[in-house]
Amino acid sequence: MNKHILWVIALAFLVSCQDKTVQQPDVNTSSESATKAPVASVATEKPAAADKAAADKAAAEKAAAEKAAAEKVAADKVAAAEKVAADKVAADKAADKAADKAAAEKAAAEKAAAEKAAAEKAAADKAAAEKAAAEKAAADKAAADKAAANKKVVAPLVQGKQPIKSEPNPAPVDNMQLKPAAAMSLEKANMLTKKCKACHATDKDKVGPAFKKVQAAYGSADALAAVWESGFAVESRKVAASDAKWKKKAKTMTGQYKKLIKKQVEKGKFTYKELAEAVFAK
Ligand code: HEC
Repeated sequence: MNKHILWVIALAFLVSCQDKTVQQPDVNTSSESATKAPVASVATEKPAAADKAAADKAAAEKAAAEKAAAEKVAADKVAAAEKVAADKVAADKAADKAADKAAAEKAAAEKAAAEKAAAEKAAADKAAAEKAAAEKAAADKAAADKAAANKKVVAPLVQGKQPIKSEPNPAPVDNMQLKPAAAMSLEKANMLTKKCKACHATDKDKVGPAFKKVQAAYGSADALAAVWESGFAVESRKVAASDAKWKKKAKTMTGQYKKLIKKQVEKGKFTYKELAEAVFAK
């Protein structure tokens, strides 16, 4: 019995509680004052919140914009600073380059100047060396000349003191030196009389008389040269004048005289005297 009662009480309590919860919204909606008041308050609160949100948003946006602007300014500042730094580096580089170029140009100019100076010095040294060499040569020559002059002076003295010993040596030397100077060299004489040799020999008669015969008839080269110079007339010819045999052949020699002697002298190949000396050379 008690159990049933307890259950009933409990059920009743539960039901009563359920009623309260179900009834509560009913009370709220049914009463106008109770429902209207909270709606109004919500309506006024809503714009305020929106405003606040908008304001917040605007503030946030402003802050963000400011931040962005500040960041931009900072970035610009950095960029500007960097640009300035880069410009400075570039300017320094350019300045360094210019300095390097100037240094290189200076070095090149100095090198060129040094080279020029060296070349000038070398030329001056060379000229000085050449001058010194020329002076030395002149001095040597003067010394040699002096020595030779001294020798000449000494030689006769030595010769006088020791006649027997010195005589055989200087004698042949003097003869050898005097011979070509006094008479025409055989070589030159042979050259001048080369074409004459077709008809003339030194020691024997050929087509023409031996040159020894000519030498005997004229006596000297000057006498022969004079006859040639005067035109070599048959009457003036010494050999032909003394020997009829040669006089008959005078025409032959007249032709040779014109061709081999007169013409050549007129050309300046040799003089009558030189040719006469050649005839008298041996
Ligand atoms: C083609 C031959 C021939 C040739 C070359 C010749 N002679 Fe003669 N020569 C004669 C004959 C021939 C005589 C003799 C006739 C005479 O005496 O005129 C002669 C005579 C002479 C005479 C003596 C002249 C006199 O009668 O006194 C002399 C000097 C002479 N010749 C010199 C020369 C000389 C120098 C040459 C060279 C440049 C030369 N002859 C070339 C043929 C020649």
